Amino acid sequence: MDRRNLIAAFTGTAALAACRASALAPDVRADLYDCEGCEGARERPAAAMAATARIDRPGEPGERLDVTGRVLGLDGKPGRGVVLYAYHTNAEGLYAGGTPETEWSRRHGRLRGWVKTGPDGVYRFETIKPAPYPDRSLPAHIHLTVLEPGRRAYWIDDIVFDDDPLVDAKYRAARENRGGTGIVRLGRTAAGRLLATRHILLEPHPA
Ligand SMILES: [Fe+2]
Repeated sequence: MDRRNLIAAFTGTAALAACRASALAPDVRADLYDCEGCEGARERPAAAMAATARIDRPGEPGERLDVTGRVLGLDGKPGRGVVLYAYHTNAEGLYAGGTPETEWSRRHGRLRGWVKTGPDGVYRFETIKPAPYPDRSLPAHIHLTVLEPGRRAYWIDDIVFDDDPLVDAKYRAARENRGGTGIVRLGRTAAGRLLATRHILLEPHPA
């Protein structure tokens, strides 16, 4: 079983950590840094970030959603000081309401945010559930960019929802499991918010 299948076979963080720590030297993706919009990860000072960030503003239409998980390094230990940049469509499937601040603030719309993990590697975004694009060419998804200390940024598999009809066999077969699987089953928090748990396995970098 290769590394990516191993990763896909586990969903709990303890199992992930054990799996990851015992894995053989993983392959570096040749296209790891091929990324449009990863510059967005650097648009806020990392020193000002916390492990939790709110993306939606009060009054934003849509169902409330928490996105959380743990970042794990190649050694199976929590990924500390890792910046995550998330952006997604609104409840109409549009990247709407951007600002002229930068190209990415304009193109990614108003629903975007940044977190930086602490020693436990845990992060959380508070936001709303996105909708598929109006043409339904893709499932509802949340883009994630990873920026590790001293490294170049890279994208990982979007978060999508297991019960989305657009997450069909063809879509699933095309996933690369960058950063681990992005297909999540929604739950509920004690407060009644939707809950998406997306653990993130840091990708190996070129030497
Ligand atoms: Fe998108």
